[in-house]
Amino acid sequence: MAQSESAAFAVVRAVSEQRLWQRHMVIARFGATGRGGVNRQALTSEDIRARKRLLAWAEARGYEAAVDAIGNLFIRRPGRDNSAPPVVAGSHLDTQPTGGNFDGAYGVLAALEVMEAADDAGIATERALETVVWTNEEGARFQPTTMGSAVFAGALALEAALATTDCAGVSVEAALAQMLASLGVARRKEFRFPMTAYLEAHIEQGPLLEAQRKKIGAVTGIQGLRWFQVEVRGQEAHAGTTPLRSRRDALASAVAMIAALGESMHDENDAVRFTVGRCEVFPNSPNTVPSRVLFTIDLRHPERETLATLGDPIEAICRARAGGCEVKVTETLNAAPTVFDPRIVELVRAAAKRQNLPSIDLVSGATHDAKFMAQLCPSGMIFVPCAGGVSHSEAEAAAPSDLAAGTRVLAEVALKLANS
Ligand code: GLV
Ligand code: MN
Ligand code: MN
Repeated sequence: MAQSESAAFAVVRAVSEQRLWQRHMVIARFGATGRGGVNRQALTSEDIRARKRLLAWAEARGYEAAVDAIGNLFIRRPGRDNSAPPVVAGSHLDTQPTGGNFDGAYGVLAALEVMEAADDAGIATERALETVVWTNEEGARFQPTTMGSAVFAGALALEAALATTDCAGVSVEAALAQMLASLGVARRKEFRFPMTAYLEAHIEQGPLLEAQRKKIGAVTGIQGLRWFQVEVRGQEAHAGTTPLRSRRDALASAVAMIAALGESMHDENDAVRFTVGRCEVFPNSPNTVPSRVLFTIDLRHPERETLATLGDPIEAICRARAGGCEVKVTETLNAAPTVFDPRIVELVRAAAKRQNLPSIDLVSGATHDAKFMAQLCPSGMIFVPCAGGVSHSEAEAAAPSDLAAGTRVLAEVALKLANS
């Protein structure tokens, strides 16, 4: 057996299901809602505390930590050749407002587990292994989603990201400064530093693996995604005295726009994903005609052409339903469908097969930081089942043995790449 294979298999054997599960339960305390889920939105004190916990585990192993200018956190286990680009794996620790315990945290904890398993097995690698925590993957508090990896990859300007504000008017710049001060990580990383490969383990967030009784998804790509913010401006007026015909009601116009957009998204195959998930109404009073509405649009499809056909007319559709209001449509993210490197997909398939884990190829419906990394280096993802395919929900659940199985596949792929 080649030396790199036996090293990989030794690390696979050293993966600890119990340690991995316990760590999920520890991270789940940061932002716990008391209903089984978490609210750990990006750059909040809960997010900071989860990162500090991770840093303490890393420090206990003697790993080095570094951050870049958007707060992406890298934890490094050195290799024999530290001039060679590392193999990087990870995901995110921020969550949706009613998030689960596995979306994101799993990819981070699985990556750390691989590094610790390599220590426990006494295996040195040629290239360094690194665990990354991307900043603001969810895009719930600050838009857009996958902000940290977008800035890292050069797809979003750092200045634009830093200027973004949350609903309370707090900027990424201010919240990030607080996080960086609190983490106290002095070492700095450059954006787009060279990587041998990027790997991300994640729960599927969909029903296919469970329905087909498969344990591993070899992810071949990610469907495309466009995000828009629509601002509708009307005129405040008294609800009791202002006749309907003379109103410029921003909410009534927004509702008409959303209805028209919904009709324009009709699709025989039910493959289009169209969501208006946030709507802010000002001044938000029962007896004042709304003067301003902000709503978001999340549009997804596996084909670039369909995303253009459905996404490009959004502004015109909104204008046609503005009903005397002003409307401003801003596209905050336009990510084409991603195709992962076939060599990485094949390594995932082969590791699953060798470990007797039934697998299928699939395309991710959810988006991930791996889409930006795929623009920079060979990248790929490993999916494991989650109960009922439920995610972005406090009901999200995954089995400890499935999480460990995905981590063993990650270990095999990462070790082979690190020693190649
Ligand atoms: C990521 O959380 C997504 O929205 O797909
Ligand atoms: Mn995620
Ligand atoms: Mn998510």
